[in-house]
Amino acid sequence: MQKSLGPELFISKLGHPTFLKRLADCNNKAQPFRKAFGKLSSEDLIVDCTSGFGQDLLCLASWGAPTIGVERDSKVFAWLSEAIQLLAKTRPQIKKISSNLKLLNLNATEALSTLETEPTHIYLDPIYPEKEKSALGKLDLRLLKEHVGEDLDTSELLEAALKKASKRVIVKRPLKALEITHQTKPSLSAEGKSTRYDIYII
Ligand SMILES: C[S@@+](CC[C@H](N)C(=O)[O-])C[C@H]1O[C@@H](n2cnc3c(N)ncnc32)[C@H](O)[C@@H]1O
Repeated sequence: MQKSLGPELFISKLGHPTFLKRLADCNNKAQPFRKAFGKLSSEDLIVDCTSGFGQDLLCLASWGAPTIGVERDSKVFAWLSEAIQLLAKTRPQIKKISSNLKLLNLNATEALSTLETEPTHIYLDPIYPEKEKSALGKLDLRLLKEHVGEDLDTSELLEAALKKASKRVIVKRPLKALEITHQTKPSLSAEGKSTRYDIYII
């Protein structure tokens, strides 16, 4: 059967044994994704501005700090919310994580300007227009890109995030890709096999 974007795909991705294994190991400080966020406590507030399929979001929320996931596409938002709610009924791991999580169906630039509590860490994983070989080669991400289009306002979102975060802004990039165009350069980066996390320390 041909894959298509819809609630079933979100449920199968977030409930997949490979992802649940990643989730269980996601607080491993040797992992570049975890390293990129540095020291965290329950006093911190993490905002994922680009929730998409919600895999990074659930990892973030599993670390114990309150976490907000923002997604601007209404259908993606609805599928993600439905998948998390459904999986929380059968998977104790996801039930625990989801109690730490709030989802907002907004443009993240707008969401950041209306938050009552200042986020300490802000995470961005936008869909890039560039043609270079990247994670977008993966079928699920290609389907997502066909549905939501390219994220052409990433520089503005980075600008808003840098103004709002009190500790770090973390941007996910394909390993060899250029940084997001911005007058501020990343303070450092954490590299994985195919991914790089550009870290802006505030
Ligand atoms: C590459 S996907 C994110 C994948 C996600 N990190 C995951 O683990 O599944 C990018 C998502 O961010 C959303 N997005 C991009 N820019 C946004 C913005 N300014 N505000 C809210 N959502 C945004 C897109 O609609 C898309 O669903």
